[in-house]
Amino acid sequence: MKIGVFDSGIGGTTVLAEIKKLLPNEEYRYIADSKNCPYGEKSDQELERIVTKNVDELKNWGAKIIVIACNTATTRCIDYLRQKYPELTFIGTEPAIKLATNTDAKSILVLATPGTIASERTKSLLEENQKPGQKITLLACPGLADTIEKCYQDDHTPIRDKLAELLTNAPKSPDIIVLGCTHYSLIKDEIQTLFPSSKLIDGNLGVAHRVEAKLHQP
Ligand code: DGL
Repeated sequence: MKIGVFDSGIGGTTVLAEIKKLLPNEEYRYIADSKNCPYGEKSDQELERIVTKNVDELKNWGAKIIVIACNTATTRCIDYLRQKYPELTFIGTEPAIKLATNTDAKSILVLATPGTIASERTKSLLEENQKPGQKITLLACPGLADTIEKCYQDDHTPIRDKLAELLTNAPKSPDIIVLGCTHYSLIKDEIQTLFPSSKLIDGNLGVAHRVEAKLHQP
């Protein structure tokens, strides 16, 4: 099966890696749309234009399943894409809020792009899943995905500086930190160093399981 995957750059490779572990024999095409990074600071209209271009390219290649390996594009555009391309199956990546709240964690910190944090989807994930006594802090991280995109292959100092600046007012040691942007999964170690006692989670494995389930559907 031809499976198309896209993100605003290298972040989505963390999702693709999980999918390939479960499904090594499928055919993949990955679009790293770094010229349009960051998605997380664009309007819905702009994003819709950008994701349409990516989907058209993957559709022309022959993809039947398209994985949106980006929390921002998923939370803001998946409904639009499902409506526009009813012939395709879309599998999205969204902040793993449900996974975090289904634990006995008392404090949860969600890190994501401004676009994801402001989305209606994130709002409903909270409303549907937050348990009594759980404190959930949403922290928008403008500029972080962009810095990771530019610096990941080289010196990580700008990434560590950006993290330190953004996390100044974050809770000190939340039980769980949700990495709500696929770029942040690339710098898990750096984030873990700042929060040694917190558990870090993302939605990547869940996405891989959903792709697998779709493939095995009759
Ligand atoms: N990696 C993306 C996400 O999961 C987008 C980051 C960006 O381009 O702002 O949200």
